[in-house]
Amino acid sequence: MQPKTVNQSRAIKASMVFPPDTNNHGTMFGGKVMSYIDDIAAISAIRHARMPVVTASTDSVDFLYPIRRGHSACLEAFVTWTHKTSIEVFVKVIGEDLITGERNICATAFLTFVAVDEHGTPQPVPPVVPETDLEKRLYREAPERAQVRRERRKHSKAIAELFGVTTVWEDGPQNTA
Ligand SMILES: CC(C)(COP(=O)(O)OP(=O)(O)OC[C@H]1O[C@@H](n2cnc3c(N)ncnc32)[C@H](O)[C@@H]1OP(=O)(O)O)[C@@H](O)C(=O)NCCC(=O)NCCS
Repeated sequence: MQPKTVNQSRAIKASMVFPPDTNNHGTMFGGKVMSYIDDIAAISAIRHARMPVVTASTDSVDFLYPIRRGHSACLEAFVTWTHKTSIEVFVKVIGEDLITGERNICATAFLTFVAVDEHGTPQPVPPVVPETDLEKRLYREAPERAQVRRERRKHSKAIAELFGVTTVWEDGPQNTA
């Protein structure tokens, strides 16, 4: 498969933060930020693979600074690394006071997507060619992050098995403690 540069997958989106996107503190809902992150990361992954993808996981998202009503939220995403069928995407979210020009990095996240066919079966993806020092660093460190995700996935599966598919109401009060 033809390798792709990081720039070929880069996606950027800026939006004004309006009142319906904000909480009672006048800052953007965390869930809204996460939805923007997933959205732009998926665009980046699809640009890289030129195939449909599904989100396999999102690493932790730390909200470092709030984004205020009337400010802009600018997101940048690019593919950092791929394995056989999975694609790692980095996203950064920049909040900007459009009047003063002050900017803050409000959140960063790594997401993993998997390219799939029409049956949802994972499909091979092109490799990444990192070019800049930062891209090379993110690429070099990616297998370690992927290993952490493999361990986390095992743990999540074990937890899922432990709890099963019934809800607390169906299980009865003995399991609510
Ligand atoms: C993600 C999914 C396609 C993986 O399918 P699977 O049949 O379990 O496939 P595998 O276990 O062989 O994993 C395929 C690849 O996904 C990666 N992967 C699977 N789960 C992962 C996770 N939680 N985090 C990171 N990578 C993951 C594997 O490491 C593997 O990567 P590689 O091929 O590059 O080595 C499947 O679990 C799925 O469809 N999940 C639901 C996705 C979804 O609904 N997302 C939200 C809406 S888009």
